Amino acid sequence: MHTPIKGFSKLTQKGKTEWIVDEIFNGDQSIVDLLESYLHPDESIQKLHNEFIENTITNYYLPLGVAPNFLINDTLYTIPMAIEESSVVAAAAKAAQFWLKRGGFKTTILGTEKIGHVHFIFSGESKKLESFFAENKKTLINSTDDITANMRARGGGITDIRLVNKTQDLEDYYQLDVRFQTCDSMGANFINSCLERLAETLTGLIDGDNRFTDSEKQVQIVMRILSNYTPNCLVRAEVSCPISELSEEEGVSAKEFAEKFYRAVRIAEIEPYRATTHNKGIFNGIDAVVLATGNDFRAVEAAGHTHASRNGKYESLTHCSVENDTFRFWIEIPLSVGVVGGLTALHPMVKFAHKMLGNPSAEQLMGIIAASGLAQNFAALRALVTSGIQKGHMKMHLLNILNQLEATDEEKQAFVEYFKDKTVSHNAVVRKFCEMRGIQYESFAKK
Ligand code: MEV
Repeated sequence: MHTPIKGFSKLTQKGKTEWIVDEIFNGDQSIVDLLESYLHPDESIQKLHNEFIENTITNYYLPLGVAPNFLINDTLYTIPMAIEESSVVAAAAKAAQFWLKRGGFKTTILGTEKIGHVHFIFSGESKKLESFFAENKKTLINSTDDITANMRARGGGITDIRLVNKTQDLEDYYQLDVRFQTCDSMGANFINSCLERLAETLTGLIDGDNRFTDSEKQVQIVMRILSNYTPNCLVRAEVSCPISELSEEEGVSAKEFAEKFYRAVRIAEIEPYRATTHNKGIFNGIDAVVLATGNDFRAVEAAGHTHASRNGKYESLTHCSVENDTFRFWIEIPLSVGVVGGLTALHPMVKFAHKMLGNPSAEQLMGIIAASGLAQNFAALRALVTSGIQKGHMKMHLLNILNQLEATDEEKQAFVEYFKDKTVSHNAVVRKFCEMRGIQYESFAKK
């Protein structure tokens, strides 16, 4: 075990690397080479990356793939996806291609409201606090005018503030529940700045108000923070077609496919074990686009999972109906994303991703992301209810296995050819690899 260090953040990037190599890797210089090999050759780009976070020692690459042929509200998109998992991009592209011939994806914005709270403790008469709030609501909002000026000029700002009495759940606990419109930005910094000002105004006003006793004036502000749960920043994406247009899948007729697909979604609606995996697959698509477009995938995931639990049980984020000979499949998901501010103005690849999408508005981006989640889920369920997931997945995973084995390019080509009509498994690949190289499988597998 290595010893703790004081002032690590003050070391230069080189100094940090040296400390890690000496303390953790026993002076192994190959670690320096490894870390340096991932630095960007353009110093200004590297500097940008260094400054995104703290204690940067190098970069961590993820592949950026694209899924073409996404027809969304009659516009064709090639969607950028940053993800490490093989077969996700291929699945998105396959689903996009499928729906391209059937009218594409239709998306609807159901709301764009963001929420934040001042969480505070007031040990006094709630009636007094309520009348105080009703009288001072405008003053509270006006106290943020300097912060909200630009946002208001763009059509956003604070849309409402409510006083929420939570004392039933926690002694003396109240909230200022604040609603925002943040236009094309995700708005986290804007919301938090407003909340900090509101908290300051709140305590100041209470302190100067004679209706409160001295002890009531001792309001304790516990936290001022946005909520990542944005149930009213909601988008819906949908695909539909006559059942007869669902082609035969792996020997399963269109009608049987629709029924099995519908049941698979119903299972995810009622069974949390399945819903978790089902939604994970949806986030394979969503996170990849959120990440590529420089948005906060942790925030998006957190909101999505809360939404999936809103009925008191964790449920599927997608739904399906098979009625009057029509197959309908849709997702409704809260997506708080931005197209201005944050990484969108800084990261060259993020800027590229936005450009490739035609510089969408935040609302358009919500639709694109929702469609990618729906496509991903469609592809996963389509495979699951027919041939199973492993066939396609392992084919895509073949190159990862071969890279682990350090196969040459020629060997890789030969393997892809060989496994064209065979089931890929880790074991089968290793056995074939040994056979090709004339190595004994038993001794190789032991290593
Ligand atoms: C794998 O990353 C995602 C799936 O498991 C999703 C699903 O089961 O629906 C294929």
